Amino acid sequence: MASLTIRKLDDAIRDELRLRAARNGRSVEDEVRVILREAAHHPPPTAATPPAAFQPEAADRRPRAAHGLPRVTLIIGGGIAAYKALDLIRRLKERQIHVRCVLTRAAQQFVTPLSASALSNERAYTDLFDPSSEFDAGHIRLGRDCDLIVVAPATADLIAKMAQGHADDLASAILLAANRPILLAPAMNPLMWNNAATRRNVAQLERDGVALIGPNAGEMAEANEAGVGRMAEPTEIAIAAEEFLRPPQPRPLAGKRVLITAGPTHEPIDPVRYIANRSSGKQGFAIAAAAQAAGADVILVSGPVDLDDPAGVAVKHVESARDMLRQVEASLPVDIAIFAAAVADWRVVNEGEQKLKKTSAGMPPLQLVENPDILATISKLGDGRPPLVIGFAAETEHLIDNARAKLARKGCDWIVANDVSPATGVMGGDRNTVHLLTRDAGEINVDSWPVMSKEQVATELVARIADSLMAKPGEKTS
Ligand code: C5P
Repeated sequence: MASLTIRKLDDAIRDELRLRAARNGRSVEDEVRVILREAAHHPPPTAATPPAAFQPEAADRRPRAAHGLPRVTLIIGGGIAAYKALDLIRRLKERQIHVRCVLTRAAQQFVTPLSASALSNERAYTDLFDPSSEFDAGHIRLGRDCDLIVVAPATADLIAKMAQGHADDLASAILLAANRPILLAPAMNPLMWNNAATRRNVAQLERDGVALIGPNAGEMAEANEAGVGRMAEPTEIAIAAEEFLRPPQPRPLAGKRVLITAGPTHEPIDPVRYIANRSSGKQGFAIAAAAQAAGADVILVSGPVDLDDPAGVAVKHVESARDMLRQVEASLPVDIAIFAAAVADWRVVNEGEQKLKKTSAGMPPLQLVENPDILATISKLGDGRPPLVIGFAAETEHLIDNARAKLARKGCDWIVANDVSPATGVMGGDRNTVHLLTRDAGEINVDSWPVMSKEQVATELVARIADSLMAKPGEKTS
């Protein structure tokens, strides 16, 4: 068993150890034991994860560029939801976000600075005036030496203090002196949330540019009480924080209008029955979200699906193939059209006006007629044909041969071919294996992608579209 003589340590490390031990109310030996235990329980640092702060204060002084990770100052307010702030620390850290915690006096009734410090691997701050602090002006720099301030839970009292500009404790002083974005996760009883004073304070903070996540509706800690006031879940808050911290994304499709079809169509047999297929719409929705994230103005024409509309996308909900064609035509002109919908090939001609009845004569015969081919119709438009038209080929056999034939028959520019045999789990699943067929100087180029999530397929497809626009700006991209 190795032994360690503290006296022989480097002066700076010894001083730092003494300071840290005093702050945590431990002997220097105990402090070393805690540090070693933490080191043993944490995975070894990688390039993406800088070493755990043996000397937190030294780490604090490092400029952001050297530190590498985005930094959040997490202010924990005094409410029953404070226990969830401990989980929030984990959720932020697993996203490679560096966290320093500040606890209000009331928060310390619910969670201890020690827990916050152990989870964040950083000192937790509680006092406005702390002689041992290396921060000038009573650590209000915690509101500046970070990229984002998150307040969770943001209690009615903390919100009121912020709205009024109070600064009589560390949390409110940091918030008043901050020059970084602030994200509040309010948590309080629904009556407090709906109180006119809180409404006024929240409206004021929104005008001041403060962002809010939640509160959500649900059960309250108080027995038999429910309503709006529950703090957003730690993962929701971490995702919202990540959004703030993400560097501005490139927007290669800015100024482009993109039309996407998605999902199945429902072809009515009578008022209550229809012909459908197993398409979930996930791939088309993912493409719409990726195109929107790339800066495009996106119109999504969707058949009946069980998915939320992607944020920032204009969604037109339709039932049948004929409705879908109508909405597609009404959305033109566009720069790029992507037909990911699994449109029913046939519809019933003799659609019943009333629910079809079982009769002694047996099942009424259904007469089918072919639906309009939306992809072929748009690909073959003269005037108004989008410069880039992309179709999908969902096949269960001879995938590439069928996709090549489809490219020629439909007259589109690119085909995304995927095997939808039941064994692949593509229909309704979250992953996809695709082959992108493009025309290249009269030849058809086949690019096979590895298995990916549908979101990754969407991102890659959007990247290819952006590349093709860059290659031939203003020209037809095939
Ligand atoms: O002919 P098939 O259904 O295999 O063609 C698939 C491609 O054609 C997909 O891009 C699909 O969205 C599109 N399509 C269409 N209208 C139809 C049938 C297919 O837009 N009626």
